[in-house]
Amino acid sequence: MSDQLLIKDSRTNKEFSVPITNDTIKATDLRQIKVKDDDFGMMTYDPAFMNTASCVSRITYIDGDKGILRYRGYPIDQLAEKCSYLEVAYLLLHGELPTKVQLENWTYSITHHTLIHENIKKFMDGFNYDAHPMGMLVSTLAAMSTFYPDSKNIFSAESRQMQIYRLIGKVPTIAAFAFRHHLGQPYVYPDNDLSYPGNFLSMLFKMTEPKYKVNPVLERALDILFILHADHEQNCSANVMRSIGSSQADPFVSAAGAAAALYGPLHGGANEQVLRMLREIGSKDKVADFVKKIKSGEGGRLMGFGHRVYKNYDPRAKIIKTTAESVFEVTGKNPLLEIAIELERIALQDEYFVKRKLYPNVDFYSGIIYEALGFPSEVFTVLFAIPRMSGWLAQWQELLLDPDQKIARPRQVYLGSGERNFVPVEKRG
Ligand code: CMC
Repeated sequence: MSDQLLIKDSRTNKEFSVPITNDTIKATDLRQIKVKDDDFGMMTYDPAFMNTASCVSRITYIDGDKGILRYRGYPIDQLAEKCSYLEVAYLLLHGELPTKVQLENWTYSITHHTLIHENIKKFMDGFNYDAHPMGMLVSTLAAMSTFYPDSKNIFSAESRQMQIYRLIGKVPTIAAFAFRHHLGQPYVYPDNDLSYPGNFLSMLFKMTEPKYKVNPVLERALDILFILHADHEQNCSANVMRSIGSSQADPFVSAAGAAAALYGPLHGGANEQVLRMLREIGSKDKVADFVKKIKSGEGGRLMGFGHRVYKNYDPRAKIIKTTAESVFEVTGKNPLLEIAIELERIALQDEYFVKRKLYPNVDFYSGIIYEALGFPSEVFTVLFAIPRMSGWLAQWQELLLDPDQKIARPRQVYLGSGERNFVPVEKRG
C-alpha cells in the first residue's frame, strides 16, 4: 500500500485517508471531507502560495535552507563559470546541455531573429521621452503578439520553437531600443557578428564608430549575470507566465504579463530600489542609523535583502560579488559598493535580520555592477527580463506539455454578505 495521510475530522469523527506522493498530497483529495453530502468539501487556504505546489517541474531546483540553485541538475556556480548564457537557455528549454552542433544551430537561429519589425520600432517611438523602460518592454512584448499571429498555434512544436527563437532573439533589441529612446539617441540595429551579450552592448552603447568594440571582460560579466537570472522556478513572474499560458494565450502576451510581474519592487524591481536606497544612505558612516530606521519600521524594507525561498545566502549573490570585482577592474570602483558592503556586514550581525534569516539576494549587488557598466537605474529590471525570458519560456512549454495542467483558476473562501434584496437608490441610507 502507498504512503497515506490519515485525517480525522473532529466535526464528524470520520476518518479519511489521502495518498502521499513526493511528500505531497493532492488538494482535491481533501474534497471528500464533508459534514453534509451536499457540502462543497474541504479546501486549503494558502494566500501567496506559501505551501502549495502548483505544478510538477523538472527545470530548476532550489533548496532555500542550504542556499542551493540548480538548472536541470547542474549547480549554478558551475554553469556561471563554464557556460555561455545561450548554452544555459538551451539547457533550460531542452533539458540537456547542447552538443557543439546543437549549440551552433541554436546560436545561429537566435542570432537570426534579433531584428524587430520597423513598425515595432515606430510603436516604441510613440512613447514619451521619459517613459520607464519596463513599461516600454511590457507593452512592446504585448504588441509583438499582433505581428506574429502564428504564435497562437501553441500546440505545434514547430511554431513554439519559432516563437522561442523570436522572443529570446528580440528581447535584447527591444531592451536596447528602450534604453536609447530614454536617452534620445538613435537606435542601433543588431550586429550578427557579435555574441549575444556583445551584440546587446553594441546596441546600447555604439555611437558613430562603424563597428562597436566589445570589451571582453564586460561581455563575460554580462553573460554571467544573464546566466544567474535565467530561471528561478515558481517565482512571481514565472507563475504569471504559467497562469496566462494556461488560458492558451500566445507566448508574447504571456511574456508581457510575466514582465509586468517582474517590474514590481518586491520582485525584479528591487535592483533599482537598492541603488536608490544606497544613494539615500549616502555614506558608510550613516549605515548603522539607516539599519536602525528599518528595524523600527520607519524606513520600509532593506531592499535586496530577504527571499521567500532562500533562508540562507542566495548563491547568485555570492557569484555576483565576485563578478563585480572583475568589472570594477575595468570600470573603476562604484563608490556605492563601500556602502553596500558595510550594510551587509551590519545586517548580517544584527539580531533582527539573523532571526528572520534575511540575507542579501540576487538584487543586492547586481545594480552596483549595472551602474558601473553605464546603465541608469531605470534600465536594471529590463536587464533582469532579458535572460529571464528563457526561464519563462521553459516554464510555459513545460506547462503546455503537462497533461495534469488546466486553466489556472484558484478557489476562494467567501466571507461576504449572504443573499439580500436590491434596494433602490432613494432608499439607501
Ligand atoms: N527588510 C526588512 N525586513 C524584512 C525584509 C527586508 N528586506 N524582508 C522581510 N522582512 C521581515 C518582514 O517584515 C517580516 O518580519 P515580521 O515577521 O516581524 O513581520 C519577516 O521578515 C518575514 O517577511 P515576509 O514579508 O513574510 O517574507 P516574504 O517571504 O513574504 O517576502 C520578500 C520575501 C523578497 C518579498 C521580502 O524579503 C522583501 O520584501 N525583500 C525586499 C525586496 C527584495 O529585495 N526583493 C527581491 C527578491 S529576490 C529577486 C526577485 O525575486 O526578483
